Amino acid sequence: MADRRILVIGSSGQIGTELVEGLRERFGADHVVASDIKEPQVEQTGPFVMANAMDRRGIERIIDKHGINEVYLLAALLSATAEKDPAFAWQLNMESLFIVLELAREGKLKKVYWPSSIAVFGPTTPKDGTPQHTIAEPTTVYGISKLAGEGWCHYYHKRYGVDVRSIRYPGLIGWKSAPGGGTTDYAVHIFHEAIKQGRYTSFLGPGTTLPMMYMPDAIRGTIELMEAPADRVKERTSYNLAGFSFAPEEIAAEVKRHIPDFVLDHAPDQRQAIADSWPRSIDDSAARADWGWKPEYDLAAMVDDMMANLVPLLRG
Ligand code: SER
Repeated sequence: MADRRILVIGSSGQIGTELVEGLRERFGADHVVASDIKEPQVEQTGPFVMANAMDRRGIERIIDKHGINEVYLLAALLSATAEKDPAFAWQLNMESLFIVLELAREGKLKKVYWPSSIAVFGPTTPKDGTPQHTIAEPTTVYGISKLAGEGWCHYYHKRYGVDVRSIRYPGLIGWKSAPGGGTTDYAVHIFHEAIKQGRYTSFLGPGTTLPMMYMPDAIRGTIELMEAPADRVKERTSYNLAGFSFAPEEIAAEVKRHIPDFVLDHAPDQRQAIADSWPRSIDDSAARADWGWKPEYDLAAMVDDMMANLVPLLRG
């Protein structure tokens, strides 16, 4: 453990903010270098450096300077933002991955983590209990980049023995960090608006059921996958991971337990088509069998914990 030196690229985003905290708690603040092109969302308890995920020389300098042997690459454009600039999304999502995979192939890194997404699936995928191995014909540039990236991870593992591990995250919900550019972000915004305004207009319509997960489960799952013995990590594309599934009106009903007058409206926009192309629920039996994954939070427990933390934060 003492020789573990971790670099998180994209540490100022929704996952990075909480993952850095989780890694620092487990491995010590000085063993985790956070880096991003943007300033951090929260005060840093360990080293932070500005870095561009597409600048190979810059990334290599950080790795050399800090003796890094493990990288979590989180920099990416998410589904909704990527549709606004497909060419740049492809460039960022792919180039950053190649840089890290190449550094690992050259022997500079022992382990790499790279997130994939339920966005690898598309309209032709079975929507309920989507299996680990199934049809994946994504219709978003984000999904195309994640599916291609999974293929490259698998290739670098098989051909060069690179120890790269990955999870297909569902929509992630947390109170410590702000999401940005995702189709599932409404499930975070709803809390902020419910607490501040008593109402929220969802950009997804009623009945839009999507797979979701509470951030503490996602962070624990990520670190558990990275801590699993290499021979237990059998899927070298990316693992399906499930928490719970709900539609906007179902999370609204849970919020109403805390704020009885809460009103939910709907004004679907271009994100509706993205959501409609994705699964409703995910089969994660491979992750459970291979490395012991098990979620802790269901919808009600997540909502209770979000409210318990956000109400004092937003109301003062
Ligand atoms: N939460 C992500 C998004 O909506 C899915 O990976 O883009």
